[in-house]
Amino acid sequence: MTREIVIAPSILAADFARLGEEIASIDLAGADWIHCDVMDGHFVPNISFGADVIKAIRPVTKKIFDVHLMIAPVDLYLEAFAKAGADVITVHAEAGPHLDRSLQAIRGLGKKAGVSLCPSTPESAIEYVLDRLDLVLVMTVNPGFGGQSFLASQLEKIARIRSMIGDRPIRLEVDGGVTRDNAGAVAAAGADTLVAGSAVFRGKSSADYAANIAAIRIAAEGGRVPELQDGSTQRVGVGERVLVR
Ligand code: DX5
Ligand code: ZN
Repeated sequence: MTREIVIAPSILAADFARLGEEIASIDLAGADWIHCDVMDGHFVPNISFGADVIKAIRPVTKKIFDVHLMIAPVDLYLEAFAKAGADVITVHAEAGPHLDRSLQAIRGLGKKAGVSLCPSTPESAIEYVLDRLDLVLVMTVNPGFGGQSFLASQLEKIARIRSMIGDRPIRLEVDGGVTRDNAGAVAAAGADTLVAGSAVFRGKSSADYAANIAAIRIAAEGGRVPELQDGSTQRVGVGERVLVR
């Protein structure tokens, strides 16, 4: 199943002094989702913002709020993020011992459930929770900071997860160091949802952001291998051609 490419700018790279205006700008610029990076200074070595900030910016746009929780423990805070207006809530597989429970709790709150994997975490971590997932987020940097370099080692993992997902309606998101230069490879490996922070918030105006988003989208769409007539998708794996049915 070929799904539309979704571009989700990370507001971590926005000017926090003008956060509302920045979100209005990326909305106008063609962002599909708004990616919100929540960091606690414990699970990751940085602190960003929490549920109150998400609640404050929620009225600025109707776009989907894609909330990436880099916090541990996480279960205690899920309800607050749901009430703040998150649409998709993604927790880290490494954030606690009870991933299955966290995912059930997110769906129980009426939200889409996502799981994120740090670069050193193998895809086997999600093998037994696939049916509880609406999204898998593969980190292509070590989480904690924007503006880091893309880890190409994760392309193979993305391709493997694409195969694991099969026909399930699960989005495969990639986050960290995504630019117009690697978006094609990311999509070729099987990702359909691309987060980008510094590569989107470059320049100042909504027109600059629109050009940045469009360049990433065009590169990603160019990287996809079209669906074949029998419904299968021939994709470029890492170092091989993979036929996925
Ligand atoms: C990293 C965050 C990412 C990051 C993306 O911990 O989850 O969303 O801010 O920013 P860039 O695109 O600049 O790597
Ligand atoms: Zn993120």
